[in-house]
Amino acid sequence: MREKNSSKSRALSLIRTIGSTALKAGNEAIQKKLSKLSEGDSPISEAALRLVKGLDDLKGAAMKVGQILSMVDEKMLPPGWKEALSKLQANATAKDWSFIKPILLHAFSNLDDFEYIEEQAMHAASIGQVHKARLKDGTFIALKVQYPNLEKSVKSDLQNMKRLISLANIMPNMANYDHTFEAVEKLFLEELDFLREKNFYELYKENFNNNSNIIVPKTISHLCRKNILATEWIQGENLQQWMTRNQSEMHTDPELIKKRDKIGFLLLDLVFKEIINFKHIQSDPNPGNFLITEDCKLVLLDFGATQKLSSDLIQNYTNLCRASLADEKENIINIAVKMGFLYTDDSIDIKESFIRIMQLAMEPFIHESYSWKNCDMLKRINSESFHLMRLTKFRAPASEIIFMNRRLGGNLIMMEKLGATVFARELFVKILQ
Ligand SMILES: Nc1ncnc2c1ncn2[C@@H]1O[C@H](COP(=O)(O)OP(=O)(O)O)[C@@H](O)[C@H]1O
Ligand SMILES: [Mg+2]
Repeated sequence: MREKNSSKSRALSLIRTIGSTALKAGNEAIQKKLSKLSEGDSPISEAALRLVKGLDDLKGAAMKVGQILSMVDEKMLPPGWKEALSKLQANATAKDWSFIKPILLHAFSNLDDFEYIEEQAMHAASIGQVHKARLKDGTFIALKVQYPNLEKSVKSDLQNMKRLISLANIMPNMANYDHTFEAVEKLFLEELDFLREKNFYELYKENFNNNSNIIVPKTISHLCRKNILATEWIQGENLQQWMTRNQSEMHTDPELIKKRDKIGFLLLDLVFKEIINFKHIQSDPNPGNFLITEDCKLVLLDFGATQKLSSDLIQNYTNLCRASLADEKENIINIAVKMGFLYTDDSIDIKESFIRIMQLAMEPFIHESYSWKNCDMLKRINSESFHLMRLTKFRAPASEIIFMNRRLGGNLIMMEKLGATVFARELFVKILQ
């Protein structure tokens, strides 16, 4: 009975949040008309800020959808929404220790293994928060603790968010995206299983064992549960902070340029090794999921959104990259049809647009080295992709491809923020062999 009530009140909060957002958004639209704000102006939307606050309170899938929305192309959102939604990408509000401690006690029955656990969370996100702790044997660990009852809310949150999206009229042809929503639901549910994530930590650790520049934290098996993940603490600065701290000198100081380019190389090498050699993809590429150590190694964190990729997809993807690098247009089209990007009877315009996207994506690999500084590639690819989406009337790609594109897009955002110069062609050709 209690559970029923709490899921009902959750749905109510979400609907209230969305409802008041819609009302506010309506008011803004009227105000905008009245004050004749020019098109380019987009102060942070009050309505969207209210949405962000509501989603932060609710956490879980509701907040995650908000985060995904914040990655959507600006042109698809009302003015001022992108700025507000991007707040969801940063740190969420952490829950008090009095809320977290009972969860730990329930899982471990006592906290005798611990010398101490820092009561203030190091980090809070949509499904849980991370506390630094020290075990009696001296090991420092990261304890990721999941908020309770999220599983039950995933389905209803997504349904309500779907309503919001159609209300805001962001995505035409919503019905095309039913299987996308199903895939997202599956991904969210998988992310709630920390034992699954633990396995991916171990798999990636084994796989990158020989790479001296990549560190994957060890899991602390006896302290892992479905809702608790314990990993060895690695000292480092997350990539977002590293880039912010070094922003002004990372393109002038020779030592920092070296580090910038090394990190860029590692990020690029990693994504292609994951896809092509390792046949897995960590599909949540935000810079908070990477740490940089003092000696400039890359620490991989957060395998909640990791997916295994099918051999078929990898084979097609590798062939598509080879054909694109060689600019074999007919071959590109044939493989794209096989992969479901294109249909045989698509118009010439559609096919040419697809080829242009592939040409853009291959730009870094044409010459020996490439600089991501001011390269504008994301903007150019987004704009061509948006054009293609319009031409194909918003045809939805297979979900495997959505996850892969999310990672590749996220990687590109990081490369551009970093502005690294990388000998990319050699790296790419080596992996394609
Ligand atoms: N093993 C670790 N060592 C050091 N810091 C960690 C470790 N695990 C997590 N963190 C910190 O906690 C943050 C959130 O962890 P993450 O696994 O990405 O959780 P979430 O799934 O909530 O995003 C990271 O950005 C990092 O700052
Ligand atoms: Mg994370």
